[in-house]
Amino acid sequence: MDKLRIKGGGPLRGEVKVSGAKNAALPILCAALLGSGELELDNVPQLHDVATMIRLLEQLGVRTVRSGERVVLDAAAISSHEAPYELVKTMRASILVLGPLVARFGAARVSLPGGCAIGQRPVDQHIKGLQAMGAEIHVEHGYVEARARRLRGTHIFTDMVTVTGTENLMMAATLAEGETVIENAAREPEVTDLARALRAMGALIEGAGTDRIVIQGVEKLSGASHRVMADRIEAGTFLCAVAAAGGEVLVTGAQPETMEATLGKLREAGARIELGKDWIRIAMSARPRAVDLRTAPYPGFATDMQAQFMAVNCVAQGVGKITETIFENRFMHALELQRLGAEIAIEGNTAVVKGHPELSGATVMATDLRASAGLVIAGMVAQGETVIERIYHLDRGYERMEEKLRALGAAIERIS
Ligand code: UD1
Repeated sequence: MDKLRIKGGGPLRGEVKVSGAKNAALPILCAALLGSGELELDNVPQLHDVATMIRLLEQLGVRTVRSGERVVLDAAAISSHEAPYELVKTMRASILVLGPLVARFGAARVSLPGGCAIGQRPVDQHIKGLQAMGAEIHVEHGYVEARARRLRGTHIFTDMVTVTGTENLMMAATLAEGETVIENAAREPEVTDLARALRAMGALIEGAGTDRIVIQGVEKLSGASHRVMADRIEAGTFLCAVAAAGGEVLVTGAQPETMEATLGKLREAGARIELGKDWIRIAMSARPRAVDLRTAPYPGFATDMQAQFMAVNCVAQGVGKITETIFENRFMHALELQRLGAEIAIEGNTAVVKGHPELSGATVMATDLRASAGLVIAGMVAQGETVIERIYHLDRGYERMEEKLRALGAAIERIS
């Protein structure tokens, strides 16, 4: 199993390019199931999760051709409606084939994702929404089995804001009969990017990016081309690395308009930030100031940025309070950060971090995707050597992270 070895110290300098967004690419790949004709995607990040999703779609019979960041998909010859446990257990986002399969082919059998390191993460809202649209759903033997003749448009009010839930229901509604309204919809930019791709395929969608999405079902969607939006979490991770380690870095290929909460917190931490249409320049010349934050659905502070800011707080001046409101068990990285000498007290869903001028390198274990990113940041500012084990978590969602950081001057290498 690969590990990362990091020698801490030294500021970061240079330029780094952000890849396409994992959380936009995954649902948009699934949208290929809805169309007759080729879906051509550009700026698709080269990640394990993307490879897993492509493998799943191929198992269903989708023809895919991939060259670098370009993926062309064609769902003309679907041969299966089943997403097996072996794939779903490695990537919860596999549930995103449920809505498209039942909407287009009238049948789907998708394994229940089960728990994961950061919490329970049920899919009851996906199921409830599809049932409201007329799908007959049974949960048996660990699988969600859905059938429908043609889904019917309806009024859906989700109990909580769910990103993939909104995406699954929005995709299903594009081929339903009549109008579907999704209230309490997720407003994440990735939902908006999916809507953009679906509209290019001929879907009639209004209100994506707000909490009320209205979809008029159509008989059929076609092929289209679409460029996947920039990864705001990857961009934010590089910015946090600079906030912790100091230096000056230009982040290109970014979409700063999707990152306001993160950028606001970085400014509070003392970073100087300049923005262009698709770039962000960050300069950090002193020790960061600790920040308080509370995760919330977009446009609130992203839970996927929480671990990285915890790492910044570990070396900041003062005390920062971090409250996690989206996932019940998303502080696993705190225990690993403590192995690096961080002072963190956890009470319920709040972590109080008292900054220390220095951390000390140690061997730590990555526990989930974003936790790993927090550990990489901490390793870059810790004295001596830090080894991060189980970095397959990192590879799920970051493209060549160690190479990109090395180009900025970090002493980081992969050991196989
Ligand atoms: C997506 C993102 C993930 C991010 C998360 C929150 C993708 C592929 N993943 O995950 O990176 O951390 O949004 O921004 O886009 N819930 C239920 N029932 C449901 C659905 C959700 O109880 O049917 C709960 C979850 O357990 C969680 C909360 O709602 O507590 C939000 O989860 P959700 O937005 O659905 O997360 P994902 O879409 O899985």
